Amino acid sequence: MREAEKPVVTFALSKGRLAEKTFNLLERMGVNCEEARNPGRRLVLQDAASDIRFILVKPSDVPTYVDHGVADFGVVGKDTLMEASRPLYEVLDLGFGRCRLCIAGYPGQVNATVGHATFRVATKYPNIARSYYAAKGRAIEIIELHGSVELGPVIGLSDVILDIVESGSTLKANGLTVLEDVCDVSARLVCNRVSLKTKAARMRELIDGLEQQVMRLSESGN
Ligand code: PRP
Repeated sequence: MREAEKPVVTFALSKGRLAEKTFNLLERMGVNCEEARNPGRRLVLQDAASDIRFILVKPSDVPTYVDHGVADFGVVGKDTLMEASRPLYEVLDLGFGRCRLCIAGYPGQVNATVGHATFRVATKYPNIARSYYAAKGRAIEIIELHGSVELGPVIGLSDVILDIVESGSTLKANGLTVLEDVCDVSARLVCNRVSLKTKAARMRELIDGLEQQVMRLSESGN
């Protein structure tokens, strides 16, 4: 394909570690990410002569932009993807951003209800919590929070939490422990279903290139 014919491909990324790691992979493929690494207050970044554009969005909005087709690709944690439950193609496990989704609470709290009729689960992930407990046939009340979820059991708002655990230090600092593992989480490359057809060649080239870099990094133990 001649350079002039290449379509612009848009990546939706959330600022921070997932974006940095994505730039690292793309740079290993020869993509210029200099502008995107230094965005200032800009939200749309595209290097001159590059066919790749980046938009910087909130993590939970990545699936929305990709679903609506204004971004062709998105990089997003599996947790956010599961919660959003949108019809996207999940094409690659990028291998970074690893953590676990867990049920956590006070030791021995896995089934007990303290002070309320229904077992209460505090979480940023109401949809995941609903389907996790539905699969177990357990009635729960979901308390939706947007941060500092560990406070739930500590302050008596909920019996347990469903949240991500990375180092485990937040749980430990609050006297809580993992009670059940829900699933492993890592960053995923997702893409819009229509883009995969309309920009097929360039999208395939990028997916294959990223996959190769992920494999190389994993073989070298990084
Ligand atoms: C996340 C998560 C836990 C913590 C887990 O919160 O919700 O609170 O990180 O990490 P750890 O196991 O390494 O301690 P985040 O830092 O995103 O802040 P938030 O509570 O405001 O959502």
